[in-house]
Amino acid sequence: MTLWGGRFEDGPGRVIWDYTTDHSDRRLLTEDVTGSMAHVGMLGETGILGAAEVKTLLGGLEAIRIEAEGDSFEFSDADEDVHSAVERRLFELVGDVAGKLHTARSRNDQIALDMRLYTRRAAADRISQLHGFAVAMADVAQSHAATIVPSLTHLQQAQATTLGHHLMAYAWMALRDADRFSAARSRIDVSPLGAGASAGTSLPIDPESTARRLEMGSAFENSLDAVGSRDHLAEYVFCCAQAMADLSRLAEEFVLWVTPEFGRARLDDSVSTGSSALPQKRNPDIAELARGRAARVLGLLTSIMALQKALPLAYNRDLQEDKRLVFEADDTLATTLAAMVELLGHTEFFEVTPSIETASLDLAEALVARGIPFREAHEAVGRLVLSLEGEGRTLRDVGPGDLAGAHSAFIDADVELIDPVGSVKRRISRGGGSPDSVHAQADELRRRIADFGGRPTPPTP
Ligand code: ARG
Repeated sequence: MTLWGGRFEDGPGRVIWDYTTDHSDRRLLTEDVTGSMAHVGMLGETGILGAAEVKTLLGGLEAIRIEAEGDSFEFSDADEDVHSAVERRLFELVGDVAGKLHTARSRNDQIALDMRLYTRRAAADRISQLHGFAVAMADVAQSHAATIVPSLTHLQQAQATTLGHHLMAYAWMALRDADRFSAARSRIDVSPLGAGASAGTSLPIDPESTARRLEMGSAFENSLDAVGSRDHLAEYVFCCAQAMADLSRLAEEFVLWVTPEFGRARLDDSVSTGSSALPQKRNPDIAELARGRAARVLGLLTSIMALQKALPLAYNRDLQEDKRLVFEADDTLATTLAAMVELLGHTEFFEVTPSIETASLDLAEALVARGIPFREAHEAVGRLVLSLEGEGRTLRDVGPGDLAGAHSAFIDADVELIDPVGSVKRRISRGGGSPDSVHAQADELRRRIADFGGRPTPPTP
């Protein structure tokens, strides 16, 4: 059914009906009922509806809520949207008094509320999942706190570090992704109910009471803004997009690491896929799909930005499109997080000996510790590396004489510094790659998650 028949002599034909309806809003059923119950409560409190009417309406809505939770609510093809479906069912359950539900309300403030309630809950789920992912990452990082690998800049070996250090970087990114959802949630947590179609109502409503009933942080300040703005949803999609971009970077690393060329990791059978043509293949499809789906979510972000950019205030039907964008972005992040946790838990990581040249900075820092300006030290070690290259030698072949020739401040014992593994242990600076630092980082990350409250979603289903 539609909620606007009175003014029309004729209804839309099939093509137009199909074009204008979007049944993706059916997943807002629970939110729609929750919002309606709060609205009815407020209408009772303000005396706009009588106590008996309130009781009947709440009884009907409660019955619908139970149907929604039990998955037994039946939508009809003739329901234009979720709001119409609830109102139609309410008529079936309680009769004509159902016609009072829409008092001092419009679908415009109603849908705005539904999406706020939905994303408020979804944000809590994503925060919990991201925390679970970060903790899973920290667990693996700690078990590889002393596994030496080269760190890369420009995809070239830079300094020796530990795999634990590398993985902790992703744990911190996930924690920030969670924080971002938390900040977005504070802007989502505002009730628009009572804004009406655009500019309020002459009835003596109390939007703050509605907001309180929904346990929302506050009520809207401007009705046009309340029904016409979607920046909070764009922000939500950005949170999804940034988290997907971060996961996609990790996915890219997995794709590289499992190649024989990198030789850094091996995937269990349960997270590998084969090739229909090449019998020898073990492919990292999960990581590749995560990377591919990140591309989709970045596209959704562009869509929700574009959706807003030329809309005159207040509500326009364009805004109906926000739902599919938000749902797809959120669903994609949720499933990708779950898949990446699986991938992480079923991957074997290997130590990789960094090239001996990654100790170059250690040599330069030995000079710096003796008061030599860094530029001069850098130059001296750079020249040494260059001359070794010309002679077909490496830093591994360097003796005290070579060092003395490179700079007079070198001492014989500095040859001991040409050791990437020892180099990592000496890297005691904050957030560095030493095993101690990895453990300290993991502890700090867990502490922050515990401080946040709520328990992270367990990493494995
Ligand atoms: N299905 C609509 C949406 O998602 C609900 C609001 C409809 N309002 C209207 N005036 N047609 O945005």
